[in-house]
Amino acid sequence: MEGKEQSTGGLHFVGKKDEMIEAKRSFRTLEGRDILIIYHQGGFYAMDSYCYHAGGMLQNGDIEEIDGKLCIICPNHKYKLSLAKGECIYKGTDPREKPPVPRWYSKGVKQRTHMVTETNGEVYVKLSEDTSWIESDYYQGEKGKVERAKA
Ligand code: FES
Repeated sequence: MEGKEQSTGGLHFVGKKDEMIEAKRSFRTLEGRDILIIYHQGGFYAMDSYCYHAGGMLQNGDIEEIDGKLCIICPNHKYKLSLAKGECIYKGTDPREKPPVPRWYSKGVKQRTHMVTETNGEVYVKLSEDTSWIESDYYQGEKGKVERAKA
């Protein structure tokens, strides 16, 4: 097992709840995967810590509610990723509309999110078990890590 976190049944202890709340953003490496744990407006969220677009550090991104979804905004190129699902949200227009009205659209799930639970003042993360490829997986792999280091 990687790191010093304890693990039981796929649940990784990541910290005491009050400390995680105070930190707001916490970085952990679980099973070799770099994860960002966020506390925002009363809820915990966890996602891959490098932006799927070009490996930006999401840890420093602002959080805003966009189209009813809490999103972290990547500091690099301002991609907006929903905290709950890792969907990439963008504003676009439909050229068939006359006149075109800008609206929020989703590119689908691009950033892998993980499950956060709290028990007795302790916070646990269970890594996503979705076996399909999600684009943020790239920056968790060897090739992506090399590319990130060069950026
Ligand atoms: Fe995040 Fe480009 S690296 S928007």
